[in-house]
Amino acid sequence: MEEKYFGHSVLRKEGREKVTGRARYVDDLAFPEMLHGVTVRSSVAHGRIRDIPFGEGIPWGEFTVVTAADIPGKNEIALIEHDQPCLAAEFINHPEEAVVLLAHADRYLLEEARRAVQIDVEPLPAIFSIEESIAKRVVLYGKDNVFKEYHLEKGDVDAAWARADVIVEGEYRTGAQEQLYIENQGMIATANPADGVTIWGSLQCPYYIHKALITLFGLPGEKIRVIQAETGGGFGGKEEYPSMIAGHAALLAWKSGKPVKIIYDRAEDMVATTKRHPSRTRHRTGVTRDGKLVAMDIDFVIDGGAYATLSSVVLSRGTIHAAGPYFCPNVRVHSRAVATNAPPHGAFRGFGAPQAIFAAERHIDQVALAVNLTPEEFRRRNFLHKGQTTITGQLINEDVNFDGLLDRAFRESDYHAKRERFARENPGEAVKRGIGFASFMHGAGFTGSGEVYLASVVELEATREGIVRVLAASTEIGQGTNTVFSQIAADALGISYDRIEIARPDTGAVPNSGPTVASRTSMVVGHLVETAALGMKRTLVDSGLLCDACTEDEFVRACKRYIDTRGPLRSRTQYEPPPGLFWDDKKYSGDAYGTYAWAVYVAEVAVDTVTFEALTDFVAVQEIGKVIHPVLAAGQIEGGVAQAIGMSLYENVVWREGRMANGQMTNYIMPTAADIPPIRVFFEEQPYPFGPHGAKGIGELPMDGPAPAIINAIENATGICVREIPATPEVLMEALTAKAGALV
Ligand code: MOS
Repeated sequence: MEEKYFGHSVLRKEGREKVTGRARYVDDLAFPEMLHGVTVRSSVAHGRIRDIPFGEGIPWGEFTVVTAADIPGKNEIALIEHDQPCLAAEFINHPEEAVVLLAHADRYLLEEARRAVQIDVEPLPAIFSIEESIAKRVVLYGKDNVFKEYHLEKGDVDAAWARADVIVEGEYRTGAQEQLYIENQGMIATANPADGVTIWGSLQCPYYIHKALITLFGLPGEKIRVIQAETGGGFGGKEEYPSMIAGHAALLAWKSGKPVKIIYDRAEDMVATTKRHPSRTRHRTGVTRDGKLVAMDIDFVIDGGAYATLSSVVLSRGTIHAAGPYFCPNVRVHSRAVATNAPPHGAFRGFGAPQAIFAAERHIDQVALAVNLTPEEFRRRNFLHKGQTTITGQLINEDVNFDGLLDRAFRESDYHAKRERFARENPGEAVKRGIGFASFMHGAGFTGSGEVYLASVVELEATREGIVRVLAASTEIGQGTNTVFSQIAADALGISYDRIEIARPDTGAVPNSGPTVASRTSMVVGHLVETAALGMKRTLVDSGLLCDACTEDEFVRACKRYIDTRGPLRSRTQYEPPPGLFWDDKKYSGDAYGTYAWAVYVAEVAVDTVTFEALTDFVAVQEIGKVIHPVLAAGQIEGGVAQAIGMSLYENVVWREGRMANGQMTNYIMPTAADIPPIRVFFEEQPYPFGPHGAKGIGELPMDGPAPAIINAIENATGICVREIPATPEVLMEALTAKAGALV
């Protein structure tokens, strides 16, 4: 088919609405008689609720007050496990856990009322670290605090150590990170026994909320409707938590009989909602003297917080990415997600992979050093190639050209000349320069059999006027879903981009195309859009109303004729796995992903020994199948790299007894535009046969590589081996001062 739109940077489908201020976000919506809702939260990390006294001076009779006792169905946020309540009834398991909900028309009085509710808790001992959780100092979940555990083994690791000339060990840590979408979380609900529950809100996954509300209200699915309002960013942060807010708004609406809006301010959003899982990774690696990997033993642990939420799947992705893009005949990964008394950690762009890849790519530099090879040479001797298997035993059947990606990245960054020059010049300089890189991969789509279980559906519907609407639950959250789907549909139908409309994600009106997560929307759902569009065209051709090489006018006439004579013109497609994919859920082995994007990122730093600020240049080279929209694709990479720079050097969640102590943007420091160096983005294209026009997923990829590339560059500049991020200026100052002290 002709690629008239595919590969071109067409105008964003919803761009005009956004830049002219016409786009309606949830806080722009209002309903007659609408009340506002707020959440009263626990202040302690762990305890038993003794009493909930309502203070003096508040006209409580005017308020709608909801506690766990008001829940019509099950007090549970239905997701994977069944451990998380919608409102704490007896036990508190983390700070900021929701206990009481209040609604009133007057937002200011509501705020006073919130402060007048005391939650009297008998405190229990609490645990706040991975170590305390593993030691079972307090058992919060099951018998051992382990939400989920994987044992992956390929080859025979125990037998392989004997063949290793050198064994290198290391421990690496990453901290929590806040998603910091521009639009805070928010929901509006209407709810009553006759009409059921309807939700409007800022969200990624309409059908996740749908499922959660079925359980919470004990209502049949057709009585629950979830509609996405315009959404200002998600990054995973609006994957699971919106089910909680939707539940709260709906409970208040159900009891009051009026629409209820809950909008979090930034402080509440930061302290109460999910963040990236903190992690600890231990590597033990055996290599031969000539730099070939013999054995890798990896212990990967993530802090899940107080409830299971999505930790098991975050852990799964981290586990599968833990050994990096290398071929090693003997690999073992033992991974665990463990419970602590922190608010649950959750989905965040990369979903466990950034944590695991930080450790892997920092460690590979240490291994290279141990066998006197450059980071480059060591990697070149161990890169995964076509015909080899990953740690899950997945046979790579595409050309993986890491040597080529490395060459390109080094050329664009002038890596070799700089590495040589910095080594020569650094000794006499106050500013230490360095350059480092990371090579990595990211699997697109749900892991293992995930896509088969999702069985996503997309539908296209044409009007008599020849407008084609795409019906899908996939959400536009700023990343370009609407634009990409329109490009794909327009090219497949051979009509203009303006003839495509994207239906608003609304569980009452669109089929379930799955959640908008896991770098799956363009590749997996986009492929369904393409298949459905080709099906629609085929229908018109087979009915004799259209020829294959028709004009747009002929298409419009054919739609009208078809609908007038035969009825609705619709085309529906359901996901089918690419042929030959095999996954064994029990052994956790096989084809973990349909495909991977492959990348090499180079970071250049200049560590100022006064300010300890670091980053000066960044080159991102990736093979992503085919580029659908150059501007949006580059935007995904630039945004992801910027977010990962935050994770590496700036964004430090300060914990105090399980609570985020710096839940404001004045003291949780994220990089601004002034702190971000040029991010130079380059794409290599090698079509993936089962993505639309060969495209692979790219949303999460750019989150994976920057942290190890930057910290590897800092080691190159200063000789300091940082094993934990964020490496804030304070951390670098202490490390460099300690090193200088040691030299004196
Ligand atoms: Mo995500 S972190 O798969 O929304």
